[in-house]
Amino acid sequence: MTSTPASVARTETFEAVLTRRVSRRSMLRAGVVVGAGAAVHSAFGTGTAAAAPAADGHPFALDFPPLEPPVPMPFDDTALAAGFTSEVLIRWGDGLFGGMPAFDVDAQTAKLQAQRFGFNSDWTAFFPLVRGGVDTGRDGLLWVNHEYTDGLMMFRSYDPDNPTKQQVDIELAAHGGSLVRVLQGGGGTWRFLRGERNRRVTAYTPIQLTGPAAGDPALRTSADPTGRLVLGTLNNCGGGVTGWGTLLTAEENFDQYFANNDALPEGKYKALNQRFGVPGGESGRKWERFYSRFDLAQEPNEPHRFGWVVEIDPFDPQSRPRKRTALGRLKHEAAAGVSAKDGRWTVYSGDDARFEFVYKFVTRDRVRDGGFAANRDLLDHGTLYVARFNDDGSGDWLPLVFGTGPLTRANGFTSQADILIRARDAGTALGATAMDRPEDIEPNPVIGSVYIALTNNDRRGTEGNPPTDPANPRPVNTAGHVIELVEDGQDAAATSFRWDILLLCGDPEDPSTYYGGFDKSQVSEIAAPDNLAVDSLGQLWIATDGAPRVLPMNDAVVGLPVIGPERGRTRQLFAGVFGSELTGIYFNSTETTMFVAVQHPGEGGTVDEPTSRWPDPAGEVARSSVVAIRPA
Ligand code: FEO
Ligand code: CA
Ligand code: CA
Repeated sequence: MTSTPASVARTETFEAVLTRRVSRRSMLRAGVVVGAGAAVHSAFGTGTAAAAPAADGHPFALDFPPLEPPVPMPFDDTALAAGFTSEVLIRWGDGLFGGMPAFDVDAQTAKLQAQRFGFNSDWTAFFPLVRGGVDTGRDGLLWVNHEYTDGLMMFRSYDPDNPTKQQVDIELAAHGGSLVRVLQGGGGTWRFLRGERNRRVTAYTPIQLTGPAAGDPALRTSADPTGRLVLGTLNNCGGGVTGWGTLLTAEENFDQYFANNDALPEGKYKALNQRFGVPGGESGRKWERFYSRFDLAQEPNEPHRFGWVVEIDPFDPQSRPRKRTALGRLKHEAAAGVSAKDGRWTVYSGDDARFEFVYKFVTRDRVRDGGFAANRDLLDHGTLYVARFNDDGSGDWLPLVFGTGPLTRANGFTSQADILIRARDAGTALGATAMDRPEDIEPNPVIGSVYIALTNNDRRGTEGNPPTDPANPRPVNTAGHVIELVEDGQDAAATSFRWDILLLCGDPEDPSTYYGGFDKSQVSEIAAPDNLAVDSLGQLWIATDGAPRVLPMNDAVVGLPVIGPERGRTRQLFAGVFGSELTGIYFNSTETTMFVAVQHPGEGGTVDEPTSRWPDPAGEVARSSVVAIRPA
């Protein structure tokens, strides 16, 4: 056990920490070589056996002239780097099944919305449909998370203080996710097909609770005395694809759907709800007026049934989704996975709130051939860990296992189920490092590294809050940063790792930023890194959420190499419309197309007074959509 970062950081100025870490990076970068056939060195300078993929001909190789962020920032337009083209593939309200009327903002019903593409698209994933052993990359199923709804952007004359039951029902139906058949035509344009391969999962789709916490008394409600069957999934933010062909969709800010935490007796659940942000009184959404399960005064356990990672088999539209309790309950941003050296599966996830933690889950058993049928219970058995980032660039994965370390009855933990339901409390007891809002986490199997987007934390180092530490080195960190992690032995199942800072975002002329040593003229500036993706060249892609609060730009997609002489040199590919964040970066299986979701375009406007009508200038209101980006 080493001292906590916070205790050391108190004795050191921010500048000193930064100087020490940057100079260490500079030393380690020396001697890194990259190129076709050359030995790939990890970001930390330790050699590996892998060969660097050749970038020649890759449609998204990072040699394109970067997009200059448009000035003024466009309200109703996206922008692309030269050499690329894009189309809107699908938008909120598009019908997924045959015989449906066209979307009409004034003719919405819950029944129709449950068959239409949902609101506020987030993480996406492409599952190729392989025929005769051939994957063309042009035919597949696209999963899209629908993170949350916004009544002002959905309904004319919406009154946030008095939503109607019909409005609430439509919002419930616009949550969850969509699975949509997508095809690329001969001209390169992508479109979606209506039909039976498609699926909607909503806030009332029956979902099985599985794993160690399933059936626990804290998960039982009057509607479900078994504690094993939940209605719906909420606030689906990031996700990941498993090695056996299923998808994991992550429940993030579930607190906003519940009301009346003050009605609970003092105790561990009330305190944890407060830490999550569950309102003491009525909720902003007022769903509790129509559905008792959202009212803690009536159903104190219902919030315990959210904040999980949900597994869905995309190839069986009738299959029941499963909330995998072994992965812990938190504000899961993501659930991206990678195989450990021995064939077990590892899932990384951040808990997106100020001063919360980074987690990973390692399965007990190896992945077996045979798809979901052969791996049906794989995510129900394994070990959840929380990360401690030590000052010296090392780190430890601390197991959340009942009876080990401080996770005992003497400290108030009563079972493994209790630890999983209260993963945040367990992480605190273990001394995990409080981070600057962990958003997406993405393993890079090409390089053997893992990337963690820390989007921002405007309270870091302020009075009454934790001070800076080497892994979260900037006070009032409004621009965010990206950490690179290398598991010991480059094995995802390792219980220790090394870490370093890859990017410190913001205006590159600000001395507290770091873009691989490149100056402002050489990089595309970004702030608030959020969603991440890695391509088969090992290049890292970042979508931002909130860059305009820091920089004169709309939110962006940038790519950067993480090895070689261009390491850290960002290039902007895409700019969203005003008011939107960009989410969901995912490539089709041949990496000829990148899918990006434009979430909450025109935010701040209303149906009555829209600030944007993207993507349909003649439409009534802006509609969150998925965009397909490809070489022109
Ligand atoms: Fe849903 Fe943390 O972004
Ligand atoms: Ca996010
Ligand atoms: Ca975000």
